Amino acid sequence: MSLDVARIRALYPALSDGYAWLDAAAGTQVPRPVIEAVAAAYAEGIGNAHGAFPAGARSDEIVARARQAVADLVGGDAGGVVFGPNMTTLTYRFAYTLAKDWGPDDEIVVSRLDHDANVRPWVQAATRAGARIRWAAVEVPSGELPAGQYDELVTDRTRLVAVTAASNILGTMPDVRRITERAHAVGALTYVDGVHATPHSPIDMVALGADFYATSSYKWSGPHIGAVAARPELLERLSPDKLASSPAEVPDRFETGTLPFADLAGVAAAVDHLAGLDPDATGTRRERLLASMAAVEAHEQAELAHLLKGLSALPGVGLVGSPRRRTATAYFTVAGHTPHQVAEYLAARAINVWDGHCYAWELTQAFGIRDAGSGVRAGLVHYNDRSDVDRLLNALEDLTSG
Ligand SMILES: Cc1ncc(COP(=O)(O)O)c(C=O)c1O
Repeated sequence: MSLDVARIRALYPALSDGYAWLDAAAGTQVPRPVIEAVAAAYAEGIGNAHGAFPAGARSDEIVARARQAVADLVGGDAGGVVFGPNMTTLTYRFAYTLAKDWGPDDEIVVSRLDHDANVRPWVQAATRAGARIRWAAVEVPSGELPAGQYDELVTDRTRLVAVTAASNILGTMPDVRRITERAHAVGALTYVDGVHATPHSPIDMVALGADFYATSSYKWSGPHIGAVAARPELLERLSPDKLASSPAEVPDRFETGTLPFADLAGVAAAVDHLAGLDPDATGTRRERLLASMAAVEAHEQAELAHLLKGLSALPGVGLVGSPRRRTATAYFTVAGHTPHQVAEYLAARAINVWDGHCYAWELTQAFGIRDAGSGVRAGLVHYNDRSDVDRLLNALEDLTSG
């Protein structure tokens, strides 16, 4: 089963504007069914949650459907899916909550591969609690996060290990399973950042050993909403700060204020869209997601191979990192041009890429490129095709030869 990318692209109104959208790692475009689901929720009329009248019940139903959709996407439990404005805000909330019972005898482990949203909230919460912070190092120049180092980093004092399922600039997919097994062996919790990984391959948070799995729907064709999935029993043990008057049950008690109901209708529609990417996939939505995301991975990896081969052949283009397992994300520098100049040059040719540290704060520093503007990122998803990649390669060839 290969993807019918032309059919998929036709579902995305924004993709018809003539640009090559290679900025997916910063956020994806939205297909028509998602736009329509958000519009339909508003058109039908939205009441606040738990109201006595039908519009309130509709909002309750939207939230329940969105929780089930995210659970299906990541292999979690709908009763443990927490929504928030974005992953960063949710991670701050969980860090603050978990750190309530950390003290000077405790340690946490963060990694230099991670987006800063899975580093700083933990570092700041641990610092406040007087706990020790231990850092997992990235191998330079490969950009790998060797899992073996966790044997020494994780001790019987470790309370939490925060690690990414994929680097948002290099695409590196570390051996999360091995890392979480080590954490669980000493009774530590694991917080896995799945924001970059989720759109690129089938996800099974249980197989990954993630006690918490964070994701953001705007990276997989949905609205700007973050979610953290956890086992409901684990959430039951935690006491986030909350209003006296707001729901005390799980997962609601982790959600401050009113949820964006219409956008949540879009979250469920985005998951349905992903499940339908392989039209031959059958079975439950979870089964269709697994099949569709496997087809997505195969398509993206083929385009990535073409992109990496083309970039390596260009004089003056330097690829950053060479991880063995990676998402369809390439990060590079161009001799004689700052990353921002390259991005501007490409934008003038209707090619969207991201430039700069992309919040991979520690990683760009580890590679020694942060102060020089870091790099240029081309991030592919399922809707990118060969013409997008070739347009980028041709434009870079013009830039480096001219
Ligand atoms: C790997 C990774 N983690 C975390 C984040 C932060 O996500 P959010 O924008 O939902 O806070 C991003 C955003 O780009 C990301 O790529």
